[in-house]
Amino acid sequence: MSETTPLTNRLAGLVNRLPARVRDTVDRYLEVIDLARELKDPKVARSLAPAGLRGLILRRGKQGTPTQFPASHNAHFDWTYPADHDDMRDLYDRAKRAQWDGATYLPWQTSVDPMNPEVPILPDGYFDFSILEDAAGVRLTAQQQLAFKHSLTAWMLSQFLHGEQGALLVASQLVNPVPELDCKKYASTQVVDEARHVEVFHRYLDTKLEKLYQVNDNLYVIIDALMVDSRWDMKFLGMQIMVEGLALGAFGTMYRITKEPLLKQLLKMVIQDEARHVHYGVLALREHIVEHLSESERREREQWAFEVALLMRNRFMAYEVYEEWFEGQVTRDVWRRFVSDSPGMREFRNVMFSRLVPNLREIGLLSERIQRDYERVGLMKYFGGLAADRLTGESMLRELDAA
Ligand SMILES: [Fe+2]
Ligand SMILES: [Fe+2]
Repeated sequence: MSETTPLTNRLAGLVNRLPARVRDTVDRYLEVIDLARELKDPKVARSLAPAGLRGLILRRGKQGTPTQFPASHNAHFDWTYPADHDDMRDLYDRAKRAQWDGATYLPWQTSVDPMNPEVPILPDGYFDFSILEDAAGVRLTAQQQLAFKHSLTAWMLSQFLHGEQGALLVASQLVNPVPELDCKKYASTQVVDEARHVEVFHRYLDTKLEKLYQVNDNLYVIIDALMVDSRWDMKFLGMQIMVEGLALGAFGTMYRITKEPLLKQLLKMVIQDEARHVHYGVLALREHIVEHLSESERREREQWAFEVALLMRNRFMAYEVYEEWFEGQVTRDVWRRFVSDSPGMREFRNVMFSRLVPNLREIGLLSERIQRDYERVGLMKYFGGLAADRLTGESMLRELDAA
């Protein structure tokens, strides 16, 4: 994914002649235009455009003030208290048994020093610093490389934290509209899981890395779109399948590569919770999509999932770190190449999609029509993987430990 975006390509020469500050702003707007052009389906574009305006242009997530979202979904009551979903009841029982206390269960006494090369948070070779040197003449010393890894780790964990806040609020919304009582009971356990994830990620960032980054604009757009969409199955698809599925892959990669023991244990616990959340999404959506949606509704969701997957693959460029470290010294174009082509970031993307794509297949959103699009963008290698209903947190961790 080393290509620059088409419009940016065409105007690169012009943009590069502008003063650094102006150039970076213009480049940001060109990216927004490219993003709008990438959204091929008008229904998908319409559903994401208002959130895109608030996130990418107005940068609502970066104003330093709380954000209010109007929520408008149905609340479904059933006064007969049926036992209406066996698999979900089983998942609910597992969730109750697997609760843990974020304050006492993790070894918070561990001293974490991101500048200690003996206990690296990210391994050597994770970044290819020669890209910055060859393209922009910027060479980082060993100490600077450690400090940079500290920043990038804090950036990633900050985005995990913002995603967890999104999951907390969306999960709490989902208790209302799902029709089955067994689903509501399960959904309530996810709410407390997500609160715990917010607690532990925030504590780690605050007291161990001592650094917190603002929400990435693209993550903001997805959270915004899901908060205001009144269709419960779209919230499910966006949060439980897309965001949680990709996060699960990202947590797994970080768990596998980090040598920092507190973070490793934290991720191990979070992965086991998240595996249930994605399982829940697959169970809830599988029947709904196949049995209750018209073909045109199914198709809209299939297209939406594909286009959001692409956005998530192409747009998480850690510009917040760029602005702190290299703005004015390195062009955004070179930065995009550095982020896209670094070996660790490539692995992140691969693992994320290996978790997501099988779940889309399992819920009926990978028809032959859309498979051609996935093939075009190189994601077909994940078609045959196991979906979340066949995986547990324990089996995922075993696989990661063996890798
Ligand atoms: Fe979570
Ligand atoms: Fe979750």
